[in-house]
Amino acid sequence: MIPQSFVQELLSRVDIVDVIERYVPLKKSGANYFACCPFHGEKSASFSVSPSKQFYHCFGCGVHGSALGFLMEYSGLGFVEAVKELAAQVGLQVPDDGRNASPQDDSSERLYEAMGLAARLYREQLKPARRAIDYLKRRGLSGEVAARFGLGYAPDEWQALQKIFPDYQAKTLADAGLVIDNDQGRRYDRFRDRIIFPIHDRRGRIIAFGGRILDKGEPKYLNSPETPLFEKGRELYGLYLAQKPIRDEGFAVVVEGYMDVVALAQYGIANAVATLGTATTPQHVHTLLRQTDRVVFCFDGDAAGRRAAWRALENALESLRDDATLAFLFLPTEHDPDSFVRAEGADAFRKAATAATPLARFLIEELRSRHDMDAAEGRAAFVHEAMPFINRISAPLLRLQVIKSVAEASGLTQAEVEHALDLPAPARRDRQPRRPEPQASPPFDDTPRPAFAGKRRREGTFRPRPAGRRKPPSTAGTLLRLVLQHPTWAARMPVDLIPSDSPEGLALIAIIDLLSLGEPIPAGGLGALIERFRDTPHGETMSRVAAELVNAEFDEAVVEILFEDSLRKLHADSLANEIATLLQQDREHGLDAAGRHRLGELLLEKRELSNASKVSDL
Ligand code: UTP
Ligand code: MN
Repeated sequence: MIPQSFVQELLSRVDIVDVIERYVPLKKSGANYFACCPFHGEKSASFSVSPSKQFYHCFGCGVHGSALGFLMEYSGLGFVEAVKELAAQVGLQVPDDGRNASPQDDSSERLYEAMGLAARLYREQLKPARRAIDYLKRRGLSGEVAARFGLGYAPDEWQALQKIFPDYQAKTLADAGLVIDNDQGRRYDRFRDRIIFPIHDRRGRIIAFGGRILDKGEPKYLNSPETPLFEKGRELYGLYLAQKPIRDEGFAVVVEGYMDVVALAQYGIANAVATLGTATTPQHVHTLLRQTDRVVFCFDGDAAGRRAAWRALENALESLRDDATLAFLFLPTEHDPDSFVRAEGADAFRKAATAATPLARFLIEELRSRHDMDAAEGRAAFVHEAMPFINRISAPLLRLQVIKSVAEASGLTQAEVEHALDLPAPARRDRQPRRPEPQASPPFDDTPRPAFAGKRRREGTFRPRPAGRRKPPSTAGTLLRLVLQHPTWAARMPVDLIPSDSPEGLALIAIIDLLSLGEPIPAGGLGALIERFRDTPHGETMSRVAAELVNAEFDEAVVEILFEDSLRKLHADSLANEIATLLQQDREHGLDAAGRHRLGELLLEKRELSNASKVSDL
């Protein structure tokens, strides 16, 4: 556990501009700094960094956060790692609150070290292994590409790793998934007599291995188990090497197999990555869409490949953006990417990738093919089946396009399809929020959200903001914006009057509570204040609101008026509520003397308040 006070101290010492500048060249314009967003492919600079607020925000893809959040997002670091990295940059020593002497971090260091040592042994064992070399040659692999991917060979021995790990019984080896302990308590190497494919994380550290059998046998590929370093659904094989080519080529290719990635790279197609024996996950799609705005899924030409493509489509719907394209390349049935590129060459592959079927077309064509479109029943079933898919598409313009296509294919009008989407259909209700609202600030979403810069980032989805349709913020929303800009004003907020029926209200109350407990106002700007609420239910709300503030520099006089007005409105709302309650009581069973007296007071107060606001309106 890193003490919160240290995080605050750290953020007060660093300047977010310096931190980001190390990775992304920034240009100053007005009060803020700008760059092309490093998290999505773009040509204009939508990524802005505010030194006064110590906060960054991209208008294109919606990413935002503090200096710490940036490091996590950019380098794929965990929270603790990011704190350490940032502390190292400013020469601070990360303290320990003594509750746990960070065994977890030490041990993950040990795991990385063990994986690295094992990888080296496997690499060294490849050259003298005749059978392994022959196998790779037979598969057409060049020595150069084998070296680039760090391929190795696990010898045909039970305890080859003992050579480099004198303490072969160490817990680390089991934790890293390098050995297996059998029921008799005997320990042996997991990988034996297999070609080894090291799997790297985005920073190039080895986190797992895949091992292919040389001849026929089961399983064909043996992979590392999930370990503290390795979570299959998150990682993509080859991403470390492919990052730059993906940016250079302007798109990423997703394939199914290790060999596919390696073979494509050998033929000059270096922008390919593979899922690791799992379906493409939303996490995968998210990771890739942060690097590029075009992803081409290339699966085997057989029925299994088509099923894999469909699963990828389903898992991508909620990550779609209107400025990104996902497409599907279906190879001839007899081919996988490896055999295709060897048989047809790189140009044929590139051409096919360019002509890949866009997601929306694949969706419609696949669904059409499942129904008899010549019959009314078939067309109805088609629309029925399409609806839950449409409702999950997070890109509003693409969603509209799909609605049009569904309408055309089914002989309905667009309005009729939209009407059908609004019909109650209990089976759909439990899914995602039905319609992405066309507003910059999404309506209150009552699904619990994790801390803002971390794992799930639905707000990263690009939502165009139709002019003039922006929802005015609630009073609580306005006050939250104000207190985020001027934390000292928290002391002036009447906490009892703030309605707690919205995430903004709750976040505002949390800030006021915190500061009223005597906690000092974070010195590290808005970024630090929000960092203080990471991992609380309010972190997400605050960071979303803060993101809208990054480029808004208000005139102080206007802000003061806005503040006074909001307070008046809170007051008025609370008066109105109380009056309504009393009037209701009066209607139902009459008011007693005290009640009537109170009502009189309230009505008077209300009149005074509205006179005062008329004066201020002049
Ligand atoms: P494939 O069976 O399509 O193999 O598995 P491949 O990639 O074409 O391999 P080669 O060309 O025969 O060597 C695709 C991917 O599924 C995972 C691996 O990640 C593999 O690359 N897989 C497959 C396993 O994890 N275990 C298996 O037993 C088989
Ligand atoms: Mn293959």
